[in-house]
Amino acid sequence: MTSDGTRAVHAGLPTVHPGGPFGNNPVFASTFHMSGDPEGPFQYGRYANPTWVALEEAVGELEGADAASTVTFASGMAAVSGALLALAEPGATVVLPSDGYPATRAVGDHLAARGVTVRLAPTAADAQATALRGADLVWLETPSNPGLDVCDIARLCELAHAEGALVAVDNTLATPLGQNPLALGADLSVASGTKALTGHSDILLGYVACADRAVADRVRGWRTMTGGIPGPMEAWLAHRSLATLHLRVDRQAANALALATWLRGRAEVGDVRHPGLADDPAHAVASRQMRRYGCVVAFTLPGREHAERFLDALRLTAVATSFGATHSMAERRGRWPGDDVPAGFIRFSVGCEDTEDLIADVAQALDAALEDRA
Ligand SMILES: Cc1ncc(COP(=O)(O)O)c(C=O)c1O
Repeated sequence: MTSDGTRAVHAGLPTVHPGGPFGNNPVFASTFHMSGDPEGPFQYGRYANPTWVALEEAVGELEGADAASTVTFASGMAAVSGALLALAEPGATVVLPSDGYPATRAVGDHLAARGVTVRLAPTAADAQATALRGADLVWLETPSNPGLDVCDIARLCELAHAEGALVAVDNTLATPLGQNPLALGADLSVASGTKALTGHSDILLGYVACADRAVADRVRGWRTMTGGIPGPMEAWLAHRSLATLHLRVDRQAANALALATWLRGRAEVGDVRHPGLADDPAHAVASRQMRRYGCVVAFTLPGREHAERFLDALRLTAVATSFGATHSMAERRGRWPGDDVPAGFIRFSVGCEDTEDLIADVAQALDAALEDRA
């Protein structure tokens, strides 16, 4: 099976047998029957659970890794910190993006306090290439959240591998149907499954998919030790969501491009960013390594009050801090510490609504934000 939609519908599902169910229904177990010496795949609930194993097979198939090299976690940050803390030993050098999701840099601060050298450089223009000398682990986030800059995964992997470094890519925004970092040379593809992968704003999940089984064993060993495991219910819901992943990401990407294109026509809206826009600074690299450009559109309104009036006036679009869901949501990113963005910067996560309704909602909210000022 090579096409995205077919893989998304069938990945990791049970083999056909008469009277069997179509899905991997959740197995709720903190422990499993086992006499004698420990043996068999399922011994204790923190070590393995059949529901995650099926999800790991599915996510691995989408990311281009085998099930044994895919490790699911309780959240995206459990996966990000699991990969970083399992692989960065004291004395190591790690290169992180200076933009991107702030909690990843917070893990970098934690590592720096424990004897790891942490270098930061921006995602845009492959600036992390300038920080690779002697690195052991390089972390890319592309497209970056929330700035939507893109770096050249294949090029940076080649340069980092020449220094002997492993490369991890945060694939949250793209999803494995948007890009496959392992096929571009990365050693790890790490993501928050909380966002577009599961897509309904109802669960937290994360995963690390590795090119090499030995690297995956270190990450899984970390999870077993620290216990950041997904619950069977979350794993089952996530697996169930994968069957519609291609439908959701196709629709979101089409809506995102339509909204971004439309926003360009509004005088008060500045710096519209979306990697799918043909003249976006990220487009040339994105179009070489991405099959779909994701659901996020970023733009800047003239200041905090203007942005708040806009958000207050939205009717269809929710104001919330996340992205990738079937429903649209937006927020003023400057309300959080950690992102270096203008006060009027909006991160808009485009859902699966009808395009006309979505644009009409944004149009009326922009109009209301202008009127309120008058
Ligand atoms: C790019 C990126 N990576 C990781 C995470 C962390 O994921 P979670 O919230 O599931 O822990 C997020 C959350 O927004 C994110 O945007």
